[in-house]
Amino acid sequence: MDKKLLGEINVQINKELFSGYLYLAMAAHFEEVNLPGFAHWMKVQAGEELEHAMKFFEFLNEIGENVVLDAIEKPDAKFGSPLKVAEQVLEHEKFVTSRIHLLYKLAVEANEYPTQIFLQWFVNEQVEEEKNATEIVEQLKLGGESGNSLIMLDRVLAQRKAD
Ligand code: FEO
Repeated sequence: MDKKLLGEINVQINKELFSGYLYLAMAAHFEEVNLPGFAHWMKVQAGEELEHAMKFFEFLNEIGENVVLDAIEKPDAKFGSPLKVAEQVLEHEKFVTSRIHLLYKLAVEANEYPTQIFLQWFVNEQVEEEKNATEIVEQLKLGGESGNSLIMLDRVLAQRKAD
């Protein structure tokens, strides 16, 4: 495989694991402020990120390339209001989308056809990830961040299941 593409896929494994770590930190924050539904949403997201990392891990194994694991960055420990956290999730997902698009671009430039097909799942997944985070940002903006609407949204998020 093209060396630059291989290096960036290994970076992506790290970024997906970091995403899970960041979302777990957010889950811990929501537990602390007694929003168990929001905490559940973040735990489900964290689980999905581990699955994303494993998809890249297994893909490299399948095509006979080396997985190289690096240190995972420390996530934030302090977070703002629920709206601020939801906006941070959306920003982070946009960053991940830009990473997936970079991988796709490199796979096209290197004529790596199996990698292009593999990455299509992630291109679609990022559309979903951004849509889900945007919905929560918009609902928090609509309903405000205190009182009944926040409690209602917390109850809705408590029902979230992994895609
Ligand atoms: Fe692995 Fe939420 O993107």
